[in-house]
Amino acid sequence: MAVNGRSQAPALFGARIAGVGHYAPDLVVTNADLEKTLDTSDEWIVTRTGMRERRYAGEDMAVSDLALRAAQHALDRAGLEPMAIDCFIVATVTPDYAFPATACIVASKLGATGKPAFDMEIACSGFIYGLSLATAMVRSGIYRRVLIIGAEKLSSIIDKTDRATAILFADGAGAAIVERSEHDSFLSCELGADGSNPETLYIPAGGSRRPIDVAAIQAGEHYVHMLGREIFKSAITRMVESAEIALGRAQLTASDVRWMVPHQANKRIIDAAAKQLAVPPERVLVNVDRYGNTSSASIPMVMSEAVEQGLFEDGDTLLLVGFGGGLSWGSVLWRWSAN
Ligand SMILES: CC(C)(COP(=O)(O)OP(=O)(O)OC[C@H]1O[C@@H](n2cnc3c(N)ncnc32)[C@H](O)[C@@H]1OP(=O)(O)O)[C@@H](O)C(=O)NCCC(=O)NCCS
Repeated sequence: MAVNGRSQAPALFGARIAGVGHYAPDLVVTNADLEKTLDTSDEWIVTRTGMRERRYAGEDMAVSDLALRAAQHALDRAGLEPMAIDCFIVATVTPDYAFPATACIVASKLGATGKPAFDMEIACSGFIYGLSLATAMVRSGIYRRVLIIGAEKLSSIIDKTDRATAILFADGAGAAIVERSEHDSFLSCELGADGSNPETLYIPAGGSRRPIDVAAIQAGEHYVHMLGREIFKSAITRMVESAEIALGRAQLTASDVRWMVPHQANKRIIDAAAKQLAVPPERVLVNVDRYGNTSSASIPMVMSEAVEQGLFEDGDTLLLVGFGGGLSWGSVLWRWSAN
């Protein structure tokens, strides 16, 4: 039976989030900085996206370095040693290498060599999918503690001369530790995907369909390509539908949501989704103005900042909701519990 009577699937154990952490690289890139090299303006970027600045990691840092720092932050907050983690998951579209998995590198850098570790690649929905999987592992009893990290170095895959994408995407990392608990904080989740038009948001070359060669590089096919307007519309629709399904599964309504924790893709997308769900603006976490779109890192980053600010109280209902390439989307409803 489900521990709290609300969860959508029976579980052997309860789960809680023991700690969240994040890491934002030092280099701040403002809209004014982008104006110097792109045919754009601070006014356009702020009005269309809500973004004012973003962070880029230096050339000496790969995604495992960002992930490591976010993981360490989450471990410190939880008061845990790396060896107390039973499984490491990294959600990323910018791994250190095509393979091996970045999670293997992160686990070893943390001093947890030997523990299972693997990557998930589901773009901006990565943290939502990863958190759902980590929670399922803990609730089913497979592992006691799973560390899920969303980490991206998107500055390494954008064409810095393409104003459509260069203004949006940035670097960062966030992490959460899901651990077995007497009381179950997980309420429900909903995940979905539609791969019928992968080219809506993708990197054309570098995979088995189009291996990298000189022609691909000359055509800029090793960079992110995006149909922004199409994504904009489906992002709002999918996020709202997903959140409503998750709420229904938990037998809750939007009025029960204390904090909506959306993927930080665009302030207008966040505002429209929150409005359609009838979640008031003061209950919506936003940091897209300072970090841009960090893909799988955005949700744990904004959560970690909320913890820093002491926003979450015991019993608060959190609605995590994301959307991204795939297309993919998902929601997780979580009851915040400090113990
Ligand atoms: C990309 C996005 C900000 C563009 O905003 P928009 O309001 O849809 O703008 P449009 O694409 O319709 O472009 C409007 C005009 O601005 C121009 N424009 C595009 N980028 C620009 C920029 N950085 N600076 C100035 N002008 C720009 C376009 O060329 C277009 O000009 P035109 O009217 O002369 O053709 C918006 O569509 C968006 O956020 N989409 C979702 C992207 C996303 O979140 N992707 C990741 C998913 S996880």
